[in-house]
Amino acid sequence: MNIQENYSLFPHNTFGMDVKTSVFVEYTSVTELKEVLNQYIRSAEKWLHIGGGSNLLFTEDYKGVILHSAIKGYEVVEETADEVFVRVGAGEVWDDFVALAVSQGWYGAENLSLIPGEVGASAVQNIGAYGVEAKDLIVKVETLEVATSQIRVFSWAECNYAYRESIFKKELKGKYIVTHVTYRLKKKAEFSLEYGNVKAELEKAGVEPTLHRVREVIIRIREEKLPDPKVQGNAGSFFMNPIVPREQFEQLVEMYPSMPHYEVDTTRVKIPAAWLIDQCGWKGKRLGKASVHDRQALVLVNCGGAIGKEIIALSEEIRRSVADKFGVQILPEVNFI
Ligand code: EPU
Repeated sequence: MNIQENYSLFPHNTFGMDVKTSVFVEYTSVTELKEVLNQYIRSAEKWLHIGGGSNLLFTEDYKGVILHSAIKGYEVVEETADEVFVRVGAGEVWDDFVALAVSQGWYGAENLSLIPGEVGASAVQNIGAYGVEAKDLIVKVETLEVATSQIRVFSWAECNYAYRESIFKKELKGKYIVTHVTYRLKKKAEFSLEYGNVKAELEKAGVEPTLHRVREVIIRIREEKLPDPKVQGNAGSFFMNPIVPREQFEQLVEMYPSMPHYEVDTTRVKIPAAWLIDQCGWKGKRLGKASVHDRQALVLVNCGGAIGKEIIALSEEIRRSVADKFGVQILPEVNFI
């Protein structure tokens, strides 16, 4: 167990906010986590569990306990002719898991290549990209209940997954800590290439899809569009894509026929927030030390030394202008702390 006081969170948030936490605790096993819950968490005035810090915006020093999982390890817990079930420690880096799956010839995770963050957060946040979401792979989520230190295993259905949502972010927020996630991967080729330009990129290269090639293409597309947090602080998509009632979508598309959109179900349509923001002229714009990325309008960037409040100020301006022009409310995907 690693316990630090008055500890800088700079290496633990991709926005690059140089804030401190009163206490930082990193645990390496379920047994250690039980101890941490007893000793620190149940008596703490304030605590927060972080993963890779790729979806957080710290606005000030944290006067409480920050928890981080270093539960590692992969284990094949079941295998059939067609599928493999892999149990992964919550503290594993997400992309290391994807790389492992690809190297083993297991299909399903490749579209989620290079998403920053850790395995535990994949199950809380239901991360997604290029037509695939973590929920498509998750079978069960092992947790400890904060109040009692009891183990509770959530089946896939109990996690209530939806777009960037789960029971762990809503009804049970702060009540359970994820320790392990079991994913189901396929042993036979099955690709999801319909989203965006994934297929076109493969065709351009004149090659048949393989696990390695799909991973390479996804990595290339992401690297072209998304800034590297090691170079420019950012938290990927700052906003969620809004889901609007079909009637509202129909009015909008009449005014803006080129508006991209994805069907959610018969009554709702998802509109890319990036497009809405871009249409409002925000791409590349700067306000103080915060700016809108010049290749992907959904990403807000720390131009160097920005504080959380400057990023929030820019995000508020953006939300206002999108609401004024389109009558659509966009909500942050990033959590403000
Ligand atoms: N677009 C613009 N202007 C821009 C960027 C995009 O008009 O500056 C348009 C594109 O032309 C496209 C549409 O907006 O028609 C959607 O863009 P893109 O495919 O880049 O995806 P996105 O909806 O902006 C989502 C996820 C990303 C994920 C990509 C790829 C959310 C909030 N974001 O972005 O996830 O990588 O799809 O699947 O759902 C993240 O969550 O941090 C993240 C990066």
